[in-house]
Amino acid sequence: MPDLFTPLRVGAITTPNRIFMAPLTRCRAGEEHLANPLMAEHYAQRASAGLLIAEATMAMAGNSAFWTEPGIYSAAHAASWRLVTEAVHAAGGRIFLQLWHGGRACHPLLNGGVQPVGASALAIAGDEVHTPAGKQPYVVPRVLADEDLPGIIAGFRQAAEYAQLAGFDGVEVHGANGYLLDQFLRDGTNRRGGPYGGSREHRARLMFEVIEAVSDVWGRDRVGLRISPLNSYNDMIDSDPVGLATWLAGELNRFNLAYLHLMRGDFFSQQQGDVVTPVRARYQGVLVGNMGYGPEEAATAVGEGQLDAVAFGTGFLANPDLPARIKAGAPLNAPDPATFYTPGAAGYTDYPVWQA
Ligand code: PHB
Repeated sequence: MPDLFTPLRVGAITTPNRIFMAPLTRCRAGEEHLANPLMAEHYAQRASAGLLIAEATMAMAGNSAFWTEPGIYSAAHAASWRLVTEAVHAAGGRIFLQLWHGGRACHPLLNGGVQPVGASALAIAGDEVHTPAGKQPYVVPRVLADEDLPGIIAGFRQAAEYAQLAGFDGVEVHGANGYLLDQFLRDGTNRRGGPYGGSREHRARLMFEVIEAVSDVWGRDRVGLRISPLNSYNDMIDSDPVGLATWLAGELNRFNLAYLHLMRGDFFSQQQGDVVTPVRARYQGVLVGNMGYGPEEAATAVGEGQLDAVAFGTGFLANPDLPARIKAGAPLNAPDPATFYTPGAAGYTDYPVWQA
């Protein structure tokens, strides 16, 4: 029976343990969306993760949703990320980049006045976005025409190429949390007709086409996908999240991806259900679980074969040496939400490692 420290074949790479770091938006990139030495230090500190999955990174210019999140849409962005990948590799780690399009979660005040794009003309309700002019309501996106979608796919492809230039070990397509691909996938935000709306097959089409394009660049064995069928974050809902996840798990087999990264729940605990069991039953590749796992539950899930690996978010944020702590049964630092998105080193590179 595997434990959290049994090496795992993940597509083209082998991870020395099954304790991954989940992608975490930390807003340390600045308004040019460039990676920097502080980010390199942060990721290198966490290089003992089986796999580091770097934060949501703008695949295309003009799609900022967090103001100071990173991008990967120019040679300058690729060069800046080299600092990170070289530091992680020098520290013995492996790192994928999460390729992301924010869709309707983007805001004109973060993007030179340009209206965001989306699957349908529905704004995110019940939340606000941080902008230079304070917290603002989300806006109704411009609906992408079917003819616009090749441009989106090409944007992801180019981002995948820049991620290669940047020296990553692979990429994760962000299909979760109410961002563009998820807006197409779930029926609460996709009211389209035509080839990209209606049935599950149609709603998943854009995600599948993006996976194909990114896989053309990287090879399928260096591409992962993250999904969050139950998450209501960003005002998301689907009429049948468990059915959607189950269907998707079966369809994804043909892509032979490095892994499927499944967020099992809802940030706000509104939508309930078990997606892990049916996805595990259907999906034949490496399954990475995420959301609220502690070390014990993670070990049980991996030991019983329900998951192949577990991605820790805030646990890894607060504990740069998380695998060593888990192995030793050492106490864990608590994450400080007040510094999740603030600039600078505080709450970013200053969490202490464990001293025996
Ligand atoms: C967040 O910063 O709250 C956030 C960012 C990206 C996600 C989910 C949440 O995929």
